[in-house]
Amino acid sequence: MPFKLVIHSLLLVSSVTLCLAEEYNLFGFAGLGYAIEIHLGHPPQKLHVLLDTGSSTLAVASVARNDITTYFDVRNSTSAYDIGDEVFAKYTEGDWSAKVVTDYVSIPSVPLAPEVRADIALITNAHDFFMNGSGWQGILGLAYPAIGARGTDNTVTPWLKSLDEKAGRTMSFSVKLCGPTSPVVTTHYGQFEILDDVSKNKNHNRTFYTNILRERWFEIGLLSIRVLHSKKSSPKDAMASVILPFNETIKSNYEIIDGPIGKECKLLNAQKSIVDCGTTNIRVPGDIYNKIVGEIEEAAKNANILILNEFWYHGETACWPEPRHFSLPWLAVDILDADNDQQYFTVEYPPEIYMRLMSSHSGDGTMSEYCYKLGIEPGDTAVLGAVAFEGLQVIFNKEAGKIGFQTSNCGPQTRITGPHNASQPLSKLCNLATPKKHYTAVETKIAQWALAVALTVSMGLMFYLLAPRVRSSLVKSLRRMPTQISLSRTALVEEVA
Ligand SMILES: *[C@@H]1O[C@H](CO)[C@@H](O)[C@H](O)[C@H]1NC(C)=O
Ligand SMILES: *[C@@H]1O[C@H](CO)[C@@H](O)[C@H](O)[C@H]1NC(C)=O
Ligand SMILES: *[C@@H]1O[C@H](CO)[C@@H](O)[C@H](O)[C@H]1NC(C)=O
Ligand SMILES: *[C@@H]1O[C@H](CO)[C@@H](O)[C@H](O)[C@H]1NC(C)=O
Ligand SMILES: *[C@@H]1O[C@H](CO)[C@@H](O)[C@H](O)[C@H]1NC(C)=O
Repeated sequence: MPFKLVIHSLLLVSSVTLCLAEEYNLFGFAGLGYAIEIHLGHPPQKLHVLLDTGSSTLAVASVARNDITTYFDVRNSTSAYDIGDEVFAKYTEGDWSAKVVTDYVSIPSVPLAPEVRADIALITNAHDFFMNGSGWQGILGLAYPAIGARGTDNTVTPWLKSLDEKAGRTMSFSVKLCGPTSPVVTTHYGQFEILDDVSKNKNHNRTFYTNILRERWFEIGLLSIRVLHSKKSSPKDAMASVILPFNETIKSNYEIIDGPIGKECKLLNAQKSIVDCGTTNIRVPGDIYNKIVGEIEEAAKNANILILNEFWYHGETACWPEPRHFSLPWLAVDILDADNDQQYFTVEYPPEIYMRLMSSHSGDGTMSEYCYKLGIEPGDTAVLGAVAFEGLQVIFNKEAGKIGFQTSNCGPQTRITGPHNASQPLSKLCNLATPKKHYTAVETKIAQWALAVALTVSMGLMFYLLAPRVRSSLVKSLRRMPTQISLSRTALVEEVA
């Protein structure tokens, strides 16, 4: 449990803040996702589940395992009803098989999530799914029924759909992720809320909306992911106006040297682009990855920060004796505007979202170290993972078929600019699907073929918490896991004087 945070809230409780306890209901460890407490069955059994907008099934451990601390014991619930269906789900990493029951589900920390009877997949067998030290024993998928775990007879109904049925309308939700508590405390926190009316959202910062293109995953029109270079260090003004297919003066201190949107956005959306808090990193196709990371690496060299190739290209962890503030470029993500096909908005992220703090460790007498991992990774599908939520409140307005982005009161100083004008319609330029609600049965079946739900939470924290002696004995068993584990400390680097 987030020890530091608990202490913190206890100290503050007497004075101003009940809000830490009230407001934040998501907690997590670096790279292991954000989890929320749910109550299952009667009498209620408490579990923590990973919050995931990249899948749509509620699934929990139902038998004891040595990589989790507790599980849902269905025999102890008087209200469970066995549907008798066997289902199977495969994620980007890991898979499980389960038996489906219905039972009561409630999330006490979410006021607008009343107790409902919902389908629960009781996981009996899992491979590379649960993560030792993650603090969660299941997963709460918030995406659409089309990608629900499926058995021979039917698909598991998502918890949100049961909630909609009880409310008699489509419920929306909001996810606010804050990242690490501080530069030295790796515990993450955030807030998950159900919104019955999006206009009642208490955050009045401007919301930039994009359409949900297909209701399977939360698929959106992602136009580009690029590196922003400060004007001072990069004399490429001329290039920016030549390359970009729009004409405007960029008001911030940054200029765009990447592009063109035309070529890149086709590549980005070739499969799909999704918004998924169950994936840790920002994931982009390999060519774009190489370009982005190449530019950041170059900027690091120019700033005399020596970081080995293994960090940039092989998912290794880089550690320093002190917490770091990286003077590296910001990252920009351009997203299609919901209402105007010739406009887009740009989310601008500071470097700390992609220089992820993994662990801080001041060992007993040994040297303290602060370890970081790259928050960008290559893959087939473009994914705005948890790091892309940091500093933002993301509104999943399901009723209107839109996703809204607004700056929030926690996490890094992420900004949003726009709307910016493009010189031509972007859906056509980028080969985007036209927004479409409610998939038909046939399409649902097709979607099932593509059931590779995006869940990738990389481990690494645990590794650095273990003593060196234990580490080497673990190497063998860890290697089997397809996660991004750092198996050596070769990436321990120092700044060039
Ligand atoms: C999980 O971690 C705990 C303590 O960190 C350890 O005792 C246990 O053996 C680990 N289990 C597995 C399966 O690695
Ligand atoms: C289920 O109930 C039994 C008997 O009361 C108890 O020993 C067991 O710990 C319970 N299981 C869980 C997961 O709470
Ligand atoms: C491009 O922008 C500049 C300055 O904002 C303006 O003077 C110019 O007329 C614009 N060009 C076109 C083709 O709109
Ligand atoms: C609105 O955004 C700003 C940063 O742009 C932030 O400081 C502020 O706390 C946000 N307001 C809320 C209510 O989240
Ligand atoms: C963008 O285009 C709209 C018309 O679609 C226009 O009203 C607006 O002034 C333009 N904005 C800029 C910054 O050129």
